[in-house]
Amino acid sequence: MENLFDISGKVIVITGATGVLAGELAQYFARCKANVVFLGRNVAKLDSALERAEKNNPCCCAFKCDVLDRSSLEHVRGEVLKKYGRIDAIVNGAGGNMPGATIPDNSNFFSLDFDAWRAVVELNLGGTLLPTLVFGEVFQAQKSGVVLNFSSMTAQSAVTRVFGYSNAKAGIDNFTKWLAVELAKKIGEGVRVNAIAPGFFISEQNRALLTNPDGSPTQRGAKVMAKTPFGRFGKAEEIFGAAHFLISDASKFITGIVLPIDGGFSCFSGV
Ligand SMILES: NC(=O)c1ccc[n+]([C@@H]2O[C@H](COP(=O)([O-])OP(=O)(O)OC[C@H]3O[C@@H](n4cnc5c(N)ncnc54)[C@H](O)[C@@H]3O)[C@@H](O)[C@H]2O)c1
Repeated sequence: MENLFDISGKVIVITGATGVLAGELAQYFARCKANVVFLGRNVAKLDSALERAEKNNPCCCAFKCDVLDRSSLEHVRGEVLKKYGRIDAIVNGAGGNMPGATIPDNSNFFSLDFDAWRAVVELNLGGTLLPTLVFGEVFQAQKSGVVLNFSSMTAQSAVTRVFGYSNAKAGIDNFTKWLAVELAKKIGEGVRVNAIAPGFFISEQNRALLTNPDGSPTQRGAKVMAKTPFGRFGKAEEIFGAAHFLISDASKFITGIVLPIDGGFSCFSGV
């Protein structure tokens, strides 16, 4: 039977693959029998992620790789091509906020640490751009491939305090649309570029900001839930369906979109 959602055997390179969201997504792709290439910086975490994935698909592999280091990305590209002969998708999951690039409540914009701002923009925007440049060259040669980026609710409207990260994620939205057009026009419709924009999910970076040690929401966490019509934070597995759709042939005529996965946060005025 025809199955537009079949991603078995697809070679999916995923950065941030030992993190909360991209990490669980990588495991999901392995359960769908995709050949997942786990990229991360911590070898012990990579080893345990790969061990878990291999229970579902022995054809997965893992490499230590920094998304801001072009030579390490090029090395991985060579190894992946040696092993599989092609790459079907790059999922840019590495990223996150950094405390220094956030404006504390008891201060204001004019206290911004410019170096911290530069670091968070470099990680999120540069760390999405550089892997796309390196792995996208393969898409150019193949005339096929999918880029999937991670945006955020901070890209489209102001989330107080979160300054540098918001700038970077807004850049990712623009990059997604710009590159979708560029590659469709210069290479053809086989190469697509989309993004998902998760709402508020508990990760290591935001746990203390959104939840108390007893699991109850902090004041800020409660504000987020009040602005989320579903009245709760997201669960990692709730990004799987949207990401799967955008990687698969089911979304063949879709490029340049940023798909919110947010329990209604982005469409709710709060009133
Ligand atoms: N958790 C949320 O609520 C949320 C919401 C919206 C968007 N996002 C985005 O989703 C993506 C995944 O986030 P997460 O919640 O899983 O965060 P996470 O911190 O669990 O995972 C991010 C991963 O990126 C890795 N990383 C950081 N710098 C790197 C570098 N230079 N090279 C390689 N890897 C590097 C980290 O080691 C970590 O494993 C990020 O882009 C994040 O900004 C998260």
